[in-house]
Amino acid sequence: MQSRRIGDVQVSAIGLGGMPMSIEGRPDEDRSIRTIHAALDAGVTLIDTADAYHIGADEVGHNESLIARALASYGGDTSGVLVATKGGHLRPGDGSWTVNSSPDYLKQACEASLKRLGVDAIGLYQHHRPDPRVPYADAIGAIRDLLDAGKIRMAGISNANPQQIREAREILGGRLVSVQNQFSPAFRSSEPGLELCTELGIAFLPWSPLGGIQAAGSLGGAFAEVAERHGVSPQRVCLAWHLAKSPVSIPIPGASRPETITDSAAADTLELTADDLAVLP
Ligand SMILES: NC(=O)c1ccc[n+]([C@@H]2O[C@H](COP(=O)([O-])OP(=O)(O)OC[C@H]3O[C@@H](n4cnc5c(N)ncnc54)[C@H](OP(=O)(O)O)[C@@H]3O)[C@@H](O)[C@H]2O)c1
Repeated sequence: MQSRRIGDVQVSAIGLGGMPMSIEGRPDEDRSIRTIHAALDAGVTLIDTADAYHIGADEVGHNESLIARALASYGGDTSGVLVATKGGHLRPGDGSWTVNSSPDYLKQACEASLKRLGVDAIGLYQHHRPDPRVPYADAIGAIRDLLDAGKIRMAGISNANPQQIREAREILGGRLVSVQNQFSPAFRSSEPGLELCTELGIAFLPWSPLGGIQAAGSLGGAFAEVAERHGVSPQRVCLAWHLAKSPVSIPIPGASRPETITDSAAADTLELTADDLAVLP
């Protein structure tokens, strides 16, 4: 698998998004473990998670714990795997998503994630989503404190506009290594964020890169047309399109089945021609 860079760490150009294995519609644990192991078999060395990937209020960190168990039970070497988690989003258990970016809460959430992941320092910790009740500088200040305290090795942000990307970079003293924003053929409004990350050399992790859990299976149009030419899935074409957009783009397709992540992980070997790119959006 080709590699790309997050901070000073080389990771696979295609990551694995853990969300579908822990929220509504999730599979049983055995299938999830097989899915994560299939990703590792395919050379994936970036796994994206969050403490908020769970359903019930009593199972915060379901996805982090699942990933920790899958890594522990994998037969091969996992020392090169970067687990990227997030804090600042919550699920009270009624199906909704809420936010809390108070510095005290973020520090407490980070401590809990450290325990669940079973590590001394989190490889990449991402501020999940701005909280309108808390100044952005205060939230990112908490992330800076976590970096300074050695609780996290690298810092990222998510759901941030270009102004917030610049602000976070400044508050972190240039140590902002990644931005995770929604970006897919159907959702393009964070394109200015991608352009800024490309200019600044910051990794850009498009979330819901295939259009999201519900829509990913029905990717059609030009993607289906190009897929037919190459004899591959439209999802693989879509991920190759993300890779072609920018050298800092590292898509994190979600998966809940071994087959889908195995198919997605092969996107880095799909070479899109100029004719292909001309018909893609
Ligand atoms: N920062 C944020 O606020 C935020 C928000 C949402 C998501 N995320 C992150 O981004 C990740 C990706 O987003 P997402 O999971 O919402 O959406 P997505 O990656 O666009 O779509 C996920 C779905 O795509 C299907 N899929 C994946 N590869 C496929 C392939 N090669 N062929 C056919 N189907 C394929 C999977 O199906 P199966 O389930 O059948 O395997 C999965 O359910 C999440 O898992 C999460 O880690 C972050």
